[in-house]
Amino acid sequence: MSKEFKRYLVTSALPYANGPVHIGHLAGVYIPSDIYTRYLRLRGRDVVSVCGSDEHGVPITIKARKEGVTPQEIVDRYHRIIKDSFERLGMSFDIYSRTSSPTHAVTASDFFRKLYDEGKFIEKSSMQYYDEEAGTFLADRYIVGTCPKCGNDRAYGDQCEKCGSTLSPEELVDPHSAVSGSVPVLRETKHWYLPLDQYETFLREWILDGHKEWKTNVYGQCKSWLDGGLQPRAVSRDLDWGIPVPVEGAEGKVLYVWFDAPIGYISATKDFTPDWEKYWKSEDTKMVHFIGKDNIVFHCIVFPSMLKAHGDYILPENVPSNEFLNLEGDKISTSRNWAVWLHEYLDEFPGKEDVLRYVLCANAPETKDNDFTWKDFQARNNNELVAVLGNFVNRALVLTQKYFGGIVPACGGLNDYDRETIAEVAAVKGSLEKNIENYHFREALKEAMNIARIGNKYLADTEPWKVVKSDPERVKTILYVALQITANTAVAIEPFMPFSARKILAMLAVDKFDWERLGATDLIPAGHRIGEPA
Ligand code: MF3
Ligand code: ZN
Repeated sequence: MSKEFKRYLVTSALPYANGPVHIGHLAGVYIPSDIYTRYLRLRGRDVVSVCGSDEHGVPITIKARKEGVTPQEIVDRYHRIIKDSFERLGMSFDIYSRTSSPTHAVTASDFFRKLYDEGKFIEKSSMQYYDEEAGTFLADRYIVGTCPKCGNDRAYGDQCEKCGSTLSPEELVDPHSAVSGSVPVLRETKHWYLPLDQYETFLREWILDGHKEWKTNVYGQCKSWLDGGLQPRAVSRDLDWGIPVPVEGAEGKVLYVWFDAPIGYISATKDFTPDWEKYWKSEDTKMVHFIGKDNIVFHCIVFPSMLKAHGDYILPENVPSNEFLNLEGDKISTSRNWAVWLHEYLDEFPGKEDVLRYVLCANAPETKDNDFTWKDFQARNNNELVAVLGNFVNRALVLTQKYFGGIVPACGGLNDYDRETIAEVAAVKGSLEKNIENYHFREALKEAMNIARIGNKYLADTEPWKVVKSDPERVKTILYVALQITANTAVAIEPFMPFSARKILAMLAVDKFDWERLGATDLIPAGHRIGEPA
């Protein structure tokens, strides 16, 4: 038996405000989270969906320095672009917040302070690279040198992008500062660490024993981290951009971006509703984190340990995470500008928001990395959206206009084929629910589209355009049934393609239906006047 929850809290990974959002982000995180949220709302569930911009961290300061502007100008620019493009795509967050907000500064600061006061951190000094010319410590990304593994002479202090190795700054050969170009020196600095090793038993029980239902990629990554043994992790940095470490003697130090960002989910909920505590502090709430696979360790190991250490908050029930989406066979890359940017897509394809939503869901990298190609985009648009969905809805509406002047005809006696068709439509509801609740959105979308497919087949088989000559009474029943299937289609596709759902309802001249009505054959009453097909 699975637990019954009273309410839901859906979080979507906070995008870094150092660039726009691309199709990889959408397919991995935001399309799935929006489908899930819209579905819950349609079912009348109490749900809050939060997101916002992740505005701290070293890459933002590097970008600002390069452009000769302040980090605040960078995050203001991208926060606006991201927020605006999400809205245009129909993302239905209850709030899209940002981690440079005043609420967040207080929330993150208090969170740190509570753990600090309760002795949950280790304080440790270590030697780190310091740029004497610029007078600053150099965070990982500010140190460039030669990769000890592959010889790439532009490896960063935390990673070599050429061979993919994870590095620490001391491993780099010929390190130099990305700020001044000078050779950095090692200097002692103090930081606070969250002793993850002390949370191993908790994490093993909670994840490895308690959440065997998590997706295999997520569970597998957690298991390999836990089997490898966890180390204390620094939660502060020497940097002048971020939330100041709220203790004496911590001048020039800020919270590590991966410490403050997930707390952003809490701050965003606070900004949305004064009732935020019931979403964060009640075991009756089901919290679900939608993330990309590069975020797994932070959402399954680090943040839960922080929440556990804090003690007041619930843990996520699930952390559905997708693999990566490639573009035309090549890895999406911001630095190489190899991406389809959401804001550019929206400008170039006005009115085609649902096409992108559809293609990215139909082709989502749910179990393995996947490829986006324009050829596939075109094929899915033409062969699925136009040929199946568009064609069916259009035929049902046009024929009703043509034969009955737009008035829904009365349903006569149903024959076996009508009944079979109706039963097939009704059967979709259960499998659609099961798939969405288990985060199988590709399969769920297929089920939703299946309703239009069934409708298409129904019209092709019953051939009202031929029967009208010999048996006009029969055509009344056929179109009555076809219109009910059209209304069902609108309900079923709403989580995936909200714009099209709304359009269909407008053409039918009806309001939206509850999810529970899915499968019903009395959605549109006889005698009702439908609108014009578009
Ligand atoms: N900004 C991160 C990324 O894009 C995600 C942060 S998720 C949060 O990978 F939980 F930390 F907010
Ligand atoms: Zn390398």
